[in-house]
Amino acid sequence: MVNSIIYFYLLLKGAIVAFKRQKAIIKEEICMSIVSLARFQFAMTTVFHFFFVPFSIGTALAVAIMETTYVVTKKKEYLRMAKFWGNIFLLTFAVGVVTGIIQEFQFGMNWSDYSRFMGDIFGAPLAIEALLAFFMESTFLGLWMFTWEKVGPKLHVTFIWLVTFASMISALWILTANSFMQHPTGYAIKNGHAVMTSFSALLKNPQLWYEFGHVISGTIVTGGIIIAGLAAFQLLSKTAKETHFYKKSLRLGLLLALIGSVLVIFAGDQQMKYLINEQPMKFAATEGLYNTTGKHASWAVIDWSNEKEHKNDFSLDIPDMLSILAYGRTSGAVKGMNEVNAQLEKKYGKQNNYYPPVNALFWSFRVMAGFGALMLLVSALGLFLTRKKKPILYEHRWMLWIIGLCTFAPFLANTAGWLVTELGRYPWTVYGLFTIPESVSPNVSVGSLLTSNIVYFLLFTFLAATMISLVRVVLKKGPGYEEQQAEKDRRADKVDPFDKEAFE
Ligand code: HEM
Repeated sequence: MVNSIIYFYLLLKGAIVAFKRQKAIIKEEICMSIVSLARFQFAMTTVFHFFFVPFSIGTALAVAIMETTYVVTKKKEYLRMAKFWGNIFLLTFAVGVVTGIIQEFQFGMNWSDYSRFMGDIFGAPLAIEALLAFFMESTFLGLWMFTWEKVGPKLHVTFIWLVTFASMISALWILTANSFMQHPTGYAIKNGHAVMTSFSALLKNPQLWYEFGHVISGTIVTGGIIIAGLAAFQLLSKTAKETHFYKKSLRLGLLLALIGSVLVIFAGDQQMKYLINEQPMKFAATEGLYNTTGKHASWAVIDWSNEKEHKNDFSLDIPDMLSILAYGRTSGAVKGMNEVNAQLEKKYGKQNNYYPPVNALFWSFRVMAGFGALMLLVSALGLFLTRKKKPILYEHRWMLWIIGLCTFAPFLANTAGWLVTELGRYPWTVYGLFTIPESVSPNVSVGSLLTSNIVYFLLFTFLAATMISLVRVVLKKGPGYEEQQAEKDRRADKVDPFDKEAFE
């Protein structure tokens, strides 16, 4: 009898321990799911929003250049170009604003602890962005849209330059906040919150100027390639009209893309060199490097990592190349993730996992740089093959197809770029100060996150479909549509409303 009581007691105790353990595991799994779902939502909204940011800044710049060329040369074709591509720019601007609002909303919903921690730092740049840059952008955009016939050409072109300038300044303020998260400067920690101690230090953050240079040159290549690509698709159309217009647009787009890709590669190279010392873990992960190299570091063209065991399963290396890329000479060691991890554990403690998602970083970096190289090559070759003396490109449909398909390249490169920047900061939201799990809102649930993820996904699909169909409408109407409408309106004005003709 006593034995059975003891047996029953032990069984009950075992069951309670197992239940508590299971409860803890489930709780941990729910926390993990909340963090993963919130991160997925952040990635989805950021990537979708950033489809439109470089698209609109890049096309605004292209339109400003087209209109300026008209003002200088008085050639009507540039005015037509500015009006036509200006319509595409207006569409990207509108969708960009909507996606930006969703981005802010998900911040407040999923990352409230982060917002509390960072509010004092984030507040100033974001308020300046909204009050000065965005208001300036919207005001001058309105003036630009509605005053074609009402003000002189010089004043009118000033409006679009102010829009372009304001959109770049807007990007600067957003990047100021992002750069703080990558490399905190000018702050103090008070009562568990980051408090700004120096606004100028925030602006002097070297990370900001590397990011700004890289992002803005990325917008130039984005705008250029998209205009060239869409013009190529128009030239490929079996019922192609206005071929002279699209050939001119294609060349201007390619020229911008060439300038932009040279700048973006140069800026990216500088940023990469800066990372070697600033965020060595991110840099080592983009190279799939676990062990510190010897004096001559080889570069992995392709690589697959076993992230659990912290080793490379497979890699194809070029000797000395990483030393050349990192230091511009054939010798120079590069720190591997294992060594950096030991340093980070010593500095911040062993409670965090400091290894970022290595395969995602390695391949994102190659996608970004690969598309950068492709856009440089295509724009340089394209310009050469469309030169006035021997424009042979238009005779080969497959060449036009390549340029057309390149329309998608900047979207992929920009997305891959943000993946490198944001995933590489793991496990921090604010480098060295605040981790990802600490940042998530305490009151969001798996259910609410799943619902909002599905809602956002459907909304983005709808916005993307609307955007694509509206761009197609603008392309289908062609550059002559507005002139025909204006001519119709003029004729209609002349018709006597009481005349029989008015009803025909
Ligand atoms: C060889 C070419 C390129 C190199 C070496 C390069 C290098 C880099 C590096 C190192 C980063 C991460 C910076 C950080 O985390 O602080 C980055 C981010 C980024 N890249 Fe690139 N990149 C190249 C091409 C491109 C191209 C062609 C585009 C787009 C048109 C692009 C767009 C971006 C964007 C949007 C980011 C995130 C913002 C930022 O951190 O600057 N990159 N790039």
